[in-house]
Amino acid sequence: MKNKSIRDNSIRNESLLLANEIRAGQSIELLKELHILTRDGKMNQDSRRKLKQVYHLYQFIEPLMEMVQKHRHSLTLVDHGAGKSYLGFILYDLYFKSSQQLQHSPSRIFGIETRDDLVNKSQELATRLGFSGMSFLNLSVAEAISSDALPEKVDIVTALHACNTATDDAICFALRKQASHIVLVPCCQAEVAAMLKKTRNTSIKTSPLSELWRHPIHTREFGSQLTNVLRCLQLESHGYQVTVTELVGWEHSMKNELIIASNIDAPREHIKERAAERLHQLLQSTGLEMLNGRFSTNL
Ligand SMILES: C[S@@+](CC[C@H](N)C(=O)[O-])C[C@H]1O[C@@H](n2cnc3c(N)ncnc32)[C@H](O)[C@@H]1O
Repeated sequence: MKNKSIRDNSIRNESLLLANEIRAGQSIELLKELHILTRDGKMNQDSRRKLKQVYHLYQFIEPLMEMVQKHRHSLTLVDHGAGKSYLGFILYDLYFKSSQQLQHSPSRIFGIETRDDLVNKSQELATRLGFSGMSFLNLSVAEAISSDALPEKVDIVTALHACNTATDDAICFALRKQASHIVLVPCCQAEVAAMLKKTRNTSIKTSPLSELWRHPIHTREFGSQLTNVLRCLQLESHGYQVTVTELVGWEHSMKNELIIASNIDAPREHIKERAAERLHQLLQSTGLEMLNGRFSTNL
C-alpha cells in the first residue's frame, strides 16, 4: 500500500515536472520522435538539457520571426548543419504550425545537412507529422549558396554548432540571400588557429602578444575567440547590428556563444566602413591577411 502511494506520488511529480518543462501546444509525438521524451513519455538528464537549450534559443528566434511576419506575411528560415533538426522541428511545431498566415503562404523551414541518413530521417518524420512546410536538403552549406532548391532570398538563417567553417559558409549564405536575421552558435573553428600557428614567427614575433602562442590551449582558445570577433566585424561591415551573448550556462555546453545579427534598419555607412577597416587591421596585425576572402567585406 505504502509502496503504491510512493510510486503514485513519483509519477505525479514526474508529470508535474514534464508539464512545467514542455510548452503548451508542443507535440508530444515530436518530442518522442526526437528522443527528447522516451516512448513512455519520460525525460532523461541529457534530453532535458537539449530541450532547455532549444527552448532557450527559441526565445531569441521567436521575436525575429514575428518581426519578419509583420512586414512580409510569409517566412523562410534556413537552418544550416541541421543534424537531427531539433531546432527546425521545434520552430515549426511551436510557431509555424499554429499560424494560419504562415500555413497559407509559401513559408518554409529548410534544413541543410551533409549526412544523408539524417536528411532522410528528418524528411520522413516531417511527412509523418504532417509538417508540410519543412524541407531537408542533402547539401553542404557551401553548396546551398548556389543551389536552385533554395529561394533567391531568405528571411532568417540559423546555424547551431555547425562544424568548423560551416558557420562561416552560413554567414556567406545569409549575406547572399539578404537574410534579415542571422542566429549563430558557432562550433570550434580550427582554420584561424592553424593559420595563427603558421604565421607566429613572422607576424607578432617581437610583440608581447606572442605569449598567446606559448601554450597550445591558449592559441586554440584565442583562435576561436578571434574567429568570432572577425565574424561579428564582417557582419557589421555588411550593415548588420550584432548582439553577442551566452546561449545557456556553461554547465550545459562549452560552445556557448550566441551571435544574433539583424539587418533591418537603414544602413549606417560610417559604421559599416569602420567595421571593415577594423576587420582588415585585425587580420593584418595577426598575420592573417590570407583569410581576407573568408571574412570578406564585399559580396
Ligand atoms: C554538431 S552537429 C549540430 C546539429 C544541430 N544543429 C544541433 O545543434 O543539434 C553539426 C551537424 O552539421 C553537419 N555538418 C557539418 N559540416 C557541414 C557542412 N559543411 N554543411 C552542412 N552540414 C554540415 C554535421 O553532419 C552535423 O550533423
